[in-house]
Amino acid sequence: MATILDGKAHADRMLELVRLGVEDRKARGLRAPALAVVLVGDDPASHVYVRNKAAACARVGITSIEHRLAADTHQEVLDTLIDQLNADSEVDGILVQLPLPKGLDSKEALHRISPAKDVDGFHPMNQGLLLEGLPGLRPCTPTACMSLLAHHGLQLKGLRAVVLGRSEIVGKPMALMLLEQHATVTIAHSRTQDLPSVCREADLLVAAVGRPGLVEGSWIKPGAVVVDVGINRVEDLALGERIFAAEPRKLEVLKAKGAVLCGDVRFGEAMQVASAVTPVPGGVGPLTIAGLLANTLTAAGAGR
Ligand code: GUN
Repeated sequence: MATILDGKAHADRMLELVRLGVEDRKARGLRAPALAVVLVGDDPASHVYVRNKAAACARVGITSIEHRLAADTHQEVLDTLIDQLNADSEVDGILVQLPLPKGLDSKEALHRISPAKDVDGFHPMNQGLLLEGLPGLRPCTPTACMSLLAHHGLQLKGLRAVVLGRSEIVGKPMALMLLEQHATVTIAHSRTQDLPSVCREADLLVAAVGRPGLVEGSWIKPGAVVVDVGINRVEDLALGERIFAAEPRKLEVLKAKGAVLCGDVRFGEAMQVASAVTPVPGGVGPLTIAGLLANTLTAAGAGR
């Protein structure tokens, strides 16, 4: 049986460090770091994320400022708000919640955020610094995954890592961070030929594709470490019966509640093959917010 990598416990450790950093600033007579979150429209999942972010800010003493805009907001209005937040010396970090409603250009918005306040690490300047291996604000999810792996003492040097997924938010930056730590990295994706064989080569498999239960136990090299970044809501019973064959409790929840959260990896199957696995929920999810607040503290520090 594999070890469960407890993301919630690691997020708590990261948040405690942020809380201490905030206290230290206050002891030096500086104001609390401030994070501005821009939420456009009424995507229910985004509202949940934003609520969770606000609660985490309160827990560590970071000031959270929310700006809610209607779904039919024009690009110029969003751009003007970003300009105002860039110019506001009381704001250290700016996060524009994704996805943006149809009609808004997310790249234009993200590129407009000052790189010094870009706590998501999505601005081309920060992406370029990451590519060069230089310090900058880095994407929260991969940064927090690296922190989790370091905490568990995984030696990445020389390791064969496969990152499944090539998003700007997780896949690409995760691959760069693993490369920086001297892993041999393959980025695999939906067009990769013979995905199971590629995954089976991985000593470290990071799944970030948003496809429930895609990765089967037979895709995992015995003894591998598996990091599951996917957070998927499954409502389809036929799908659930297929992907939860080795995880009867998930299937029970699906039947009882009509929906259940799961990752990109079939957790029950992975537990029988891997040496360590992150669960969903309670794995990578809580780490992302911890990474965001760590970035906010860093951005505040850079401003003083
Ligand atoms: N929506 C889902 N994940 C994220 C994230 O990491 N950052 C932002 N800005 N929006 C998201």
